[in-house]
Amino acid sequence: MEVTKQAHKAHVLVFPFIGQGHVNPMLQFSKRLASKGIKPTLITAQYIFKSMQTTTIQTQFGPSIQIRSISDGYDDDGGNHPESIAAYLDSLRVNGAKSLAQLIMKLNEEGDPVQAIIYDGFLPWALDVAKQFGLVAGLFFTQSCTVNSIYYHVQRGLIQLPLTGPDSIKVSVPGAPELHPLEAPSFVHTYGSYPFWFDVILGQFFNIDQADWVLCNIFYDMEKEVVDWMAKLWKVRTIGPTVPSYYLDKRLEDDTDYGLHLLKPDTTLCKNWLDSKPKGSVAYVSFGSAVELFEEQFQELAWGLKNSQINFLWVVRESEQAKLPVGIIDENSRQGLVVGWASQLEVLAHEATGCFVTHCGFNSVLEALSLGVSVVGVPQWTDQGTNAKFVEDIWGVGVKAKVDDKGIVQRKQLEECIREVMEGENSEEIKNNLSKWKKLAKEAVDEGGSSDKNIDEFVAYLAES
Ligand code: UDX
Repeated sequence: MEVTKQAHKAHVLVFPFIGQGHVNPMLQFSKRLASKGIKPTLITAQYIFKSMQTTTIQTQFGPSIQIRSISDGYDDDGGNHPESIAAYLDSLRVNGAKSLAQLIMKLNEEGDPVQAIIYDGFLPWALDVAKQFGLVAGLFFTQSCTVNSIYYHVQRGLIQLPLTGPDSIKVSVPGAPELHPLEAPSFVHTYGSYPFWFDVILGQFFNIDQADWVLCNIFYDMEKEVVDWMAKLWKVRTIGPTVPSYYLDKRLEDDTDYGLHLLKPDTTLCKNWLDSKPKGSVAYVSFGSAVELFEEQFQELAWGLKNSQINFLWVVRESEQAKLPVGIIDENSRQGLVVGWASQLEVLAHEATGCFVTHCGFNSVLEALSLGVSVVGVPQWTDQGTNAKFVEDIWGVGVKAKVDDKGIVQRKQLEECIREVMEGENSEEIKNNLSKWKKLAKEAVDEGGSSDKNIDEFVAYLAES
C-alpha cells in the first residue's frame, strides 16, 4: 500500500486563482507534470468547488488529478455570498492559509506527503504556507513576462506612477519594446482607478524573492530578452504554451481540452454549426470569462458583425446576453450563432474558423498563436492592451482594432479589421507569421524543446528535494 502511494516522483499542490484564465493554464501544467511522473493535486477554494460537480480531472496518461478544496470562509451551503471580490479574497487569504496548512498535515498523515506548492501569483500568501512546511515554492505567472516585468518595476518604484506628461513618455523595461502608456497594462495607465486590483497585481512581487521557482506560461521565443533579464533576478523558467497536447505535440493524443469548464460549453451546437460553414469563413468572437462590455461597445460589435455579412460564432456569456440587440441572429442562425460558452480550442482548431476577435486575454492570445489563428484584438483592460500590441507589432499575427475618442471600436472599424486579417493585403504575411509561431510553440513543448526541458529540470529538482 505504502509503495503505491509513494510511487510518484513527488506530490505537488497546484493552486490557481479562481477564474477560467488561471485554472486552464495551471491545470494543463499539472497534466504535463503528471505525464512526467509527478502527482499534482489541484487546490481550489470551497466557494467554486461547490459548483464544480467533480473531484477529479481525468488524464489520458495515467492517474487522474484529484481536486481538493480549502476553506475560503464561505464553506456552508446557506447562501452565504461574499459582498465583493475584495471581501472574498481577504477571507480566502485568512481562512485559506490555515486550511491549506491543515490539508498539508492531513496528506502527510495519510502517507502522501507534499513536496511543493505551485501557486498563482495572485495568491502570494501561499508561499508563506510552503515555507512554513519547508516545501518548494513555485510561483506561476499566467500573464506575459513583459507585463509582469512592468508590474515589478512599478512595485519597486522603478516606474513612477501616475504616468503624466507629454505623449512622448514611454513605458520601458529591459528587453521589451518601448510602450506608449496606453499600451501598458491598464492598471498602470489608469493609475488609481482600480485600487483593489492594483494591490493584487503588485502583491505578486512583495515576496517573489523567496520563491524557489518562477514558472511562466510562455515559450522562450515569445519574449527572449525579457525572460533573460528576469532570469537574472529569479529562477525563471518558461513552461508554455500550456495548450492541451492534442493541438501541439500530439504526445498525449486524447488530451483535447483543459478539463475544467466553470461554465458549460455548447460543444455540439458549435461543432454542427461550424461543420456547415466553408473553410476559413467564420470569425470566432469571444471576450473570455470576465470582461463586461460597455453597452455602446456591445452594440457596435453586434452591428459590425452583422453588417460585415461574414459568418460569426460569438460567445456571449449568459450574464451579458440581455445586451444582444434584436435582429442580430436570424431564425436559422445562418450568418451568426451565439452561444453562452464554447470549447474554445475546438472552435479555434476547426477548419471553418478564419479569425479570432478577442479581448486578448493572455490564454486566448497564446491559443491563437499556438493553433495558428489570426487575431483581431479588441482589448478592454488589465494586460489585454499590452497583449494586443504584441499581437500586431511584435508577433505579427493580427491587428489591434482602433478606438474612437470614447475608447470604443466602431462597427466599421471592426468590419475592416476582420476583412484585413482574413483577406486583406497583410493577410498572407499574418498567415506566414502564424505558421512560424505555431511551429515554434510545438517545438517548445516537444520532447527536448525549451519548455519541455525546463519542465524536466523542475521535475528532477522535485524528485531530489
Ligand atoms: C483573464 C485575463 O484576461 C488574462 O489576460 C489573464 O492572463 C488570465 O485571466 P480571461 O479574461 O478569462 O482571463 O481570458 P483568457 O486569458 O483568454 O482565458 C480564457 C480561457 O477560457 C481560455 O483558455 C479559453 O480557451 C477559455 N474559453 C473562453 C473557453 O473555453 N470558452 C469560451 O467560450 C471562452
